[in-house]
Amino acid sequence: MSRANVIDLGYLVAAVLFIVGLKGLGRPRTAPRGNLMGATGMLIAVLVTLVDQSILSYQFLAIGLAIGIAIGALLALRVQMTSMPELVALFNGFGGGASVLVAASSFIEINELGNSTGQIAVAAAVTSLVGAMTLSGSMIAFGKLQGRLTWNGFRGLPIVRILVALISLAFAVQIGGFQPEGQLSLWLLIAGGFLLGILCAVPIGGADMPVVIALLNALSGVAASTTGFVLDNSLLIIAGSLVGASGLVLTQIMCKAMNRSLLDVLFGAAPSAVDSGDDIYGDQVTSTSAEEIAMLLEIAERVVIVPGYGMAVAQAQHAVRELMQTLQASDVEVSFGIHPVAGRMPGHMNVLLAEAEIDYEHLLDMDQVNPTFKRADVTIVIGANDVVNPAARNDPDSPIAGMPILDVDDSRTVVVVKRSLSPGFAGIANPLFIADNTLLYFSDAREGILEVTKALTES
Ligand code: TAP
Repeated sequence: MSRANVIDLGYLVAAVLFIVGLKGLGRPRTAPRGNLMGATGMLIAVLVTLVDQSILSYQFLAIGLAIGIAIGALLALRVQMTSMPELVALFNGFGGGASVLVAASSFIEINELGNSTGQIAVAAAVTSLVGAMTLSGSMIAFGKLQGRLTWNGFRGLPIVRILVALISLAFAVQIGGFQPEGQLSLWLLIAGGFLLGILCAVPIGGADMPVVIALLNALSGVAASTTGFVLDNSLLIIAGSLVGASGLVLTQIMCKAMNRSLLDVLFGAAPSAVDSGDDIYGDQVTSTSAEEIAMLLEIAERVVIVPGYGMAVAQAQHAVRELMQTLQASDVEVSFGIHPVAGRMPGHMNVLLAEAEIDYEHLLDMDQVNPTFKRADVTIVIGANDVVNPAARNDPDSPIAGMPILDVDDSRTVVVVKRSLSPGFAGIANPLFIADNTLLYFSDAREGILEVTKALTES
């Protein structure tokens, strides 16, 4: 078999593994196998690419690989689970940046050899624009998720955005008639894309961040896919399209979860933060203790647990499992209410609860759990805030108005476990804390839940 045939066959096997692996990721039970298939596909793709004759220097590749592996291993070992979304934002950005570098350098080389075609020029222009936007937009998302960047832009930003988009398009059109000495338009297009990414991401914040992360993920896939057209590499086209398409599906799911259209998120006004809950609700809340909660749980028949970002911060998932098992040992029916944007990344709560070996059959998504709150004797909200904020339902002027929430306030008693009255990610005070049927247990989620379980077993 010729070298070209081996490469084609390897790419075909890798592409099939990507597609079948992605299908496996759709269900919790088949996800580990899907993950393994995707990773095997990627290994085959890398090995096959290494036998490609057009690779000029294996030394450079080895140096790049060593640096990449060192950084990847360091990040994997050091980054906390709660910082995973920031890491994902960075990965999206690096993916976009890498596509720009590969597509731009290949395009310049192809042009110098006089082999460019209309397809290659269009693909290089799209990659430069989309990849650069992904890189800078992801850096902004990273800063916002870390809470270090709070700037929401300036007046007149939409007009500047349109101007930059039009100028970038003009550069993109020029690239169609690209000449080796005209590299300037390519670099200007990349600069335009970079600026556009910043201008598009800066006004977005608060509860809309999940949509942005999913969209940037999709854009990094589009950039990889169009790079495949520049390189004439079918595997890159397929893999990039899969990332782009799944990112778009996720964007749509996130928009639905927030009850926001994509246009609203991208071009609507940024939600503004309000005073902290301490200033507003200070002396109106009813606080409680572990012993009091244990007494409530002792006579409960049905308990719903609603986890949020605070459970991830406190790494309370194992303590939560212990509480669940203690309750189940007393024949209490326990289920978990999972909001699609709880935490800081899609599926965040599912991942944590699976790590603690809590069976998926106990996890109910928003549509399943909402009708059941009326039958719940006690709902324990653990480190969740925005996803249980009734202002989204009751206050049309709230920045999260219309976002579907978990209707925990329908339960007989709501116990909220958090450290203070401070607001959640969207920066909005939560009237749930002063509802008649709500008790506040001020504690770190892990320590608090361990105390409740201890009080239950000792009673
Ligand atoms: P949040 O609204 O962010 O609230 C988390 C709460 O956890 C805070 O009020 C905090 O209060 C509490 N907390 C923090 N550390 C804690 C600890 N050690 N022990 C106990 N409590 C602790 O969380 P949520 O309800 O899960 O909502 C998610 C928010 O993030 C939404 O606005 C969503 O749009 C946004 N977002 C989601 C994603 C994805 S894809 N899921 C991505 C980006 C942004 P204290 O400080 O008082 O303890």
